[in-house]
Amino acid sequence: MMIQQDPLVLFMPSGRRGRFPRGTLVIEAARALGVYVESVCGGRGICGRCQIEVAEGIFAKHKITSAADHLSPWSAKEERYAAKRGLKPGRRLSCSTTIEGDLVIDLPSDMAVNAAVVRKAVDTRDFPRDPAIRLLYVEVVEPDMHAPLGDLDRIFAALERDWGISAPIVDPEILPHVQKTLRDGAWKVTCAIAQDRDDERSRLMGLYPGLKNEAYGIAVDIGSTTIALHLSSLLSGATIASAGTPNPQIRFGEDLMSRVSYVMMNPGGRPEMTKAVREAIQRLVEEVATETNVDTTDIMDCVFVGNPIMHHLFLGIDPTELGQAPFALAVSGALAVPASDLDLGLHPAARAYLLPCIAGHVGADAGAVTLSEGPHRQDETMLVVDVGTNAEIVLGNRQRLLAASSPTGPAFEGAEISSGQRAAPGAIERVRIDPETLEPRFKIIGVDSWSDAAEFAEAARYVGVTGICGSGIIEVIAEMFLAGIVTEDGIIDGSLAARSSRIVPEGRTFAYVLHEMPGRTISILQTDVRAIQLAKAALYAGIKLLIDKFGAAGESSTIDRIALAGAFGSFIEPKYAMVLGLVPDCNVEKCGSVGNAAGAGARMALLNRSYRREIEAVVKRIQKVETALEPAFQDHFVAAMAFPNKRDAYPELVKVQRLPNRDSEGRPIRRSDDAEGNAPRRRRSGRPPR
Ligand code: FES
Repeated sequence: MMIQQDPLVLFMPSGRRGRFPRGTLVIEAARALGVYVESVCGGRGICGRCQIEVAEGIFAKHKITSAADHLSPWSAKEERYAAKRGLKPGRRLSCSTTIEGDLVIDLPSDMAVNAAVVRKAVDTRDFPRDPAIRLLYVEVVEPDMHAPLGDLDRIFAALERDWGISAPIVDPEILPHVQKTLRDGAWKVTCAIAQDRDDERSRLMGLYPGLKNEAYGIAVDIGSTTIALHLSSLLSGATIASAGTPNPQIRFGEDLMSRVSYVMMNPGGRPEMTKAVREAIQRLVEEVATETNVDTTDIMDCVFVGNPIMHHLFLGIDPTELGQAPFALAVSGALAVPASDLDLGLHPAARAYLLPCIAGHVGADAGAVTLSEGPHRQDETMLVVDVGTNAEIVLGNRQRLLAASSPTGPAFEGAEISSGQRAAPGAIERVRIDPETLEPRFKIIGVDSWSDAAEFAEAARYVGVTGICGSGIIEVIAEMFLAGIVTEDGIIDGSLAARSSRIVPEGRTFAYVLHEMPGRTISILQTDVRAIQLAKAALYAGIKLLIDKFGAAGESSTIDRIALAGAFGSFIEPKYAMVLGLVPDCNVEKCGSVGNAAGAGARMALLNRSYRREIEAVVKRIQKVETALEPAFQDHFVAAMAFPNKRDAYPELVKVQRLPNRDSEGRPIRRSDDAEGNAPRRRRSGRPPR
């Protein structure tokens, strides 16, 4: 006799699966597998937070044939909820639905139960949720003269009965409001319970009459140039608004070291900078709250990331020690503090979590980038570069991880470049140069067509051509190099002035005219090329140090994958980053942009406390490399001043892009290697090969 097996249930996106007897509630099956399904009402069918969808079809890989009718028929609770609040087609309440056959179940990520609209999808990657703050609805026994248990004690009894939470710590501000809240809610209340670590006592941080069905958190990336904030629902995980602002500390110093100097030179400098950053964050909070109609007191949790100096200044710690060896951090571990201690006007008991810093120069932002890209979860060797004023670099795989930072300066962000500007409408972001005529064409932000298209002039009339942003600078210099206008050593070749009116003298050097308009010319000057060379050499030398250390430990120094992160990194065409030698050789297909990875990592830590534990553990085993102290840095820096590099081969890159100074294997061609005895990029025509 064949024994019928229990149905097999697979939950996506986690991929967790298991067999459960028919009649098991879907939410119970999820919990048994460690799949987090939100629930505020404890299965009463009133909060709608536990929604699921059935993925129908034959999933051969999993040996599952999944169908919607493998769930129990529509229940009375679902009928009631759908009638009152509305339920999208295909959605079910997992607290009110049982398993009746094999199933593949999706946990939808767009679960906006309340009216808040998802405006800017910052990052749509799916990850499991398990926030540190939960809303738990309870129905409390009414007071009884013969059983004189206090109102709060009866709330505790209900929390224990329905949610298994015993005797939470109570924030004292709640006590005066307990009785009124309970009566306003007709003995039904929602408790906001905070518990970051499993081994710590839960804390009752808020009490609301009736069902409270929404709570929010913010994830903030405090960059030295820009502060970015995301507002997310702690219940659905959806990011409902994002905002950014220039870091107001810029007025105290453009780069990190000048801000440390400001603190050292001015007695009130540290408090001024702390105040400036906290106020800027508060303004962003108010901006997103107004935009989404969210009450700031409903923001209950926050996660912050930033480089060590930003981290210290935000916390009100003097960063002077970080300005000199041995770059001692006041605190490197993760921190959990009341948000009110950081002068943030949110929920009065809101919590703030700061990811751990990796080292004196490698901050919580690198920790967040690591968390988001997960090199430690992979067998492939991955290089993650967060390109900013200070580049954060993480290299490694499941076995080993190294991290460093490199002071690249603001050139990649358009500063220090004669026609440079931030990425904004009108900025040149893409450039191509014809190697025969040396004529350029380009694209500007805000206009879809290229500059040589008939419709461009009309389309660009409104925004204008205003300057060049970071990705445009990389492309134009890379294209100048590929067209032979710039030599391997970064010199604009003045002899080409005879061939093209685009090459013009500029003092004792030459410039390339990219665009001329009445009253203004956008050119690439020799000093611009030099600024990019210095920035990219600093970045590459840092990467190379990590590769050396990785290789020295017996690991292969082949990079399998490169992730370019950060506001600037996200817009660089990976091929051009390689042509100029910002990053080492890699299969171009496996080199890509990953957006604001630090912000994404902060969001992960906001919405799932197990990611906090993960990064805390990973940071302990990351090997830190202090680039400033490594003797080889200078040597790597000098080699990296050349395009793409004086020494290192680019075998993968030359498969998709011929380089003027490389053979078919991507190795540097030296003068003596050239059979004709000519400089490699000056063939008979005076033009390099393409
Ligand atoms: Fe609240 Fe299902 S848990 S509706």
